[in-house]
Amino acid sequence: MNLPLLLVNFKAYEQSTGFNAVALAKIHDEVANETGLSIAIAVSAVDIKDVVAAVKIPVFAQHCDPVDFGARTGFLPPKLLKSLGVTGTLLNHSEHQISDEVLQKSVEAAKAAGLFVIVCANTPEKGAEVVKFGPDLIAVEPPELIGGDISVAKAKPDIIVKSVELIGRDKVLVGAGVKNGEDTKIALELGAQGILVASGVTNSPDPKKAILDLVRPFA
Ligand code: G3P
Repeated sequence: MNLPLLLVNFKAYEQSTGFNAVALAKIHDEVANETGLSIAIAVSAVDIKDVVAAVKIPVFAQHCDPVDFGARTGFLPPKLLKSLGVTGTLLNHSEHQISDEVLQKSVEAAKAAGLFVIVCANTPEKGAEVVKFGPDLIAVEPPELIGGDISVAKAKPDIIVKSVELIGRDKVLVGAGVKNGEDTKIALELGAQGILVASGVTNSPDPKKAILDLVRPFA
């Protein structure tokens, strides 16, 4: 994965899932092509196949389970994701938290399947605790700022500083309320390797403009 990275999480917003997922994914692909910068997307499991077929940028799952192919109703095996052309997975997102025991098994199963693994953590301390499970990156997101208008970069820059200090300079993404290039600039200056964003793009009236602004400090 090229760093710095913009990872846009499509979550389960109406405007970024179902019939809208491919169009939004193509906008990300277009910006990545035009700028040569590192942009990836995490899409709903139901949209993975269509999105992977439509774009060249890395496509992530928003979650997966520590299970193999088989009698696993409703579960998402990492090997299945890999077979569909998925690049990586988020795990333990603030909106989809799992126990440490399941997280460890999930990281191992996802890595064994060849996926790039980004574990989310609500605090720098939690991130430092789960780094031993071996993810590729840790995304630290204070839950109270997720989906809001004030970014972690502006409201709680100390969280970025602490994350880099506790987790390691090469491993930290940050997110929550990130909306523009100024937020990205602060995050990078404080040592993060990129940003995890959702509503700043998915709810924007002009997603292309929003993405271009967010990655501007990468250049
Ligand atoms: O996964 C990204 C995330 O939780 C941040 O969401 O809407 O604050 O950018 P948002």
